[in-house]
Amino acid sequence: MSLNGGRGFASDNSATIHPDVLAAIARVNVGHTFGYGHDEYTGGVERLVAAQFGQYARAFLVFNGTGANVLSLRAVCRPWDGVICATTAHLNVDECGAPEHIAGVKLLTVEAENGKLTPALVRRRIDRLGDEHAVQPRVISVSQCTELGTLYTQDEMQGLGEFAREHGLILHVDGARLANAAAALDVKLFAAAGDADVVSFGGTKNGLLAAEAVVFVRSELADGFLYLRKQSLQLASKMRFLAAQFEALIRNQLWLQCAGHANAMAARLAVALRDVPGLTITRPVETNAVFAVLPPAVTASLQHDYPFYVWDEVAGEVRWMCSWDTTEEDVDQFAAAVRAALG
Ligand SMILES: Cc1ncc(COP(=O)(O)O)c(C=O)c1O
Repeated sequence: MSLNGGRGFASDNSATIHPDVLAAIARVNVGHTFGYGHDEYTGGVERLVAAQFGQYARAFLVFNGTGANVLSLRAVCRPWDGVICATTAHLNVDECGAPEHIAGVKLLTVEAENGKLTPALVRRRIDRLGDEHAVQPRVISVSQCTELGTLYTQDEMQGLGEFAREHGLILHVDGARLANAAAALDVKLFAAAGDADVVSFGGTKNGLLAAEAVVFVRSELADGFLYLRKQSLQLASKMRFLAAQFEALIRNQLWLQCAGHANAMAARLAVALRDVPGLTITRPVETNAVFAVLPPAVTASLQHDYPFYVWDEVAGEVRWMCSWDTTEEDVDQFAAAVRAALG
């Protein structure tokens, strides 16, 4: 993988920017306008994004997914609140402690098979309510789809939503790949997010240059968010260029085209590798990721030509991510290389 055309399966962040997105950026790259979203354009795009999540939703554009997650939690938690999430959640393992450090929340983690919470698992972290010595659970955060490429069904999302309501908890969805989930479930974005109160809605992994959104489905939770976004360093001065990216993503359902394609490429890779001796696919392939275990020496040799990440060094588990711009040839060549490397 390189800047001269090399390709790999490391991450959907490794992919290029969709040409429609670049064209949208170029379209607004004329004239001078007010910054910080006070132009004549950004408000309309924020409403367009919000409308994907219901008529009362409010959307705010930010730079990155960690920012979207941390801000979502910061907006809805008090200093003594806790956030229940899977141990594998990006919040827990890949944000360098930002939820704890910047949002000031304690993460209440639960081991969850294939990265998926259930009401029964969440229930384990709901204790010592009203005890001033203990952090009080406030949020359930689920990743849809999960960091392991698995998917919550609509029923599962509904079950978690009902559980949250019954226990007076807020449901946050880390939707860095919500588009992949919606494409896989063949539903609209809001339906893939279930009964979420607040969603980190991703774009960067799905063809954008760099833009994500915090969407408050329950609009009253957005109270004061403008201040929080600025205070948390996520307010873009040249906001029109973030807005242009999201307009491209939503108009003509580019999100669905890109995410559906990425999912299809992962399915193709899984089919190509499913009966290869010496390789085991370790997770259900439901969106745009394939996880597998293979001998470490084979992994190392493949990584010379096709960069990808080792997910779990102890288990020898690797992750292969497909993107909006992964081609069938990319997949077929890689699958052939894996077969050859395994002899
Ligand atoms: C599930 C999930 N959430 C959030 C993020 C955060 O995105 P960023 O790297 O833009 O901060 C990622 C990125 O890998 C992710 O996979």
